[in-house]
Amino acid sequence: MAATVIDGKAFAAKVRGQVAEHVTRLKGDHGITPGLAVVLVGEDPASQVYVRNKGKQTVEVGMASFEHKLDASVSQGELLELIGKLNADPAVHGILCQLPVPDHIDSDTILGAIDPAKDVDGFHISNVGLLGTGQKAMVPCTPLGCLMMLRDHHGSLSGMDAVVIGRSNIVGKPMAQLLLGDSCTVTIAHSRTKDLAGTVRRADIVVAAVGRPEMVPGDWIKPGATVIDVGINRIERDGKNKLVGDCDYASCAEVAGAITPVPGGVGPMTIACLLANTVTACCRANGLPEPEGLTA
Ligand code: GUN
Repeated sequence: MAATVIDGKAFAAKVRGQVAEHVTRLKGDHGITPGLAVVLVGEDPASQVYVRNKGKQTVEVGMASFEHKLDASVSQGELLELIGKLNADPAVHGILCQLPVPDHIDSDTILGAIDPAKDVDGFHISNVGLLGTGQKAMVPCTPLGCLMMLRDHHGSLSGMDAVVIGRSNIVGKPMAQLLLGDSCTVTIAHSRTKDLAGTVRRADIVVAAVGRPEMVPGDWIKPGATVIDVGINRIERDGKNKLVGDCDYASCAEVAGAITPVPGGVGPMTIACLLANTVTACCRANGLPEPEGLTA
């Protein structure tokens, strides 16, 4: 039987709607406008597109957007000075420095300078530690989006076998922590995993986040499993430029119970979760209750 297609575009629109409702309430009941500051260094074309989309969607849900575009030649000291100002600015509830930054800037130093309470990317080591110890953290946006889709599809994830393919700090590791938090039995697989096919075949939930086009074939998938494809890979096929995931969609969709497409799956959820995290940060900063359904 063909898999249920998990529509990330529709789900992201629903999350943005929930965010917009919280923003309306924060403005109307408390006179607070949540604000997100995005810092872009240099002119990487992909980063420019991401930052433009973030700014546009931030405004669409009623929040304040502060964009800081800095020349690629900016010094680390100048960038740290800007982050210091944003940390101190009460109108800014979330801060994101778009990665990658130019080589002369140390990204760990920059991420470490962002106030953990405003770290809507969830990349600060304080948030990594809080997530790892099951405490209230700011959670990285892409894994949070994957978790929301999984919870929506399954209800409880308790006791399920989950395999995360990929061990990045941005997706693989936090994804594994979130699944563990929802009582899955979690395996993190990676390029040195001995029997990747066999490991994936045991999983009720497969999250693929390796950045290798179509590397997971359908015959690795346990019949009925849920496949979350985080990959966004640009390839040439039949003389055309195409976006594909880390899973071979056609063959995986024949075996899986549910699957996210590429594009239109995980991708749209990332910015929606960034907006959700900004509302969460704003509520926490003002001692207000957590926005329901938008946090891990
Ligand atoms: N560059 C690519 N993805 C991301 C992300 O999620 N956050 C930041 N800050 N930069 C990125």
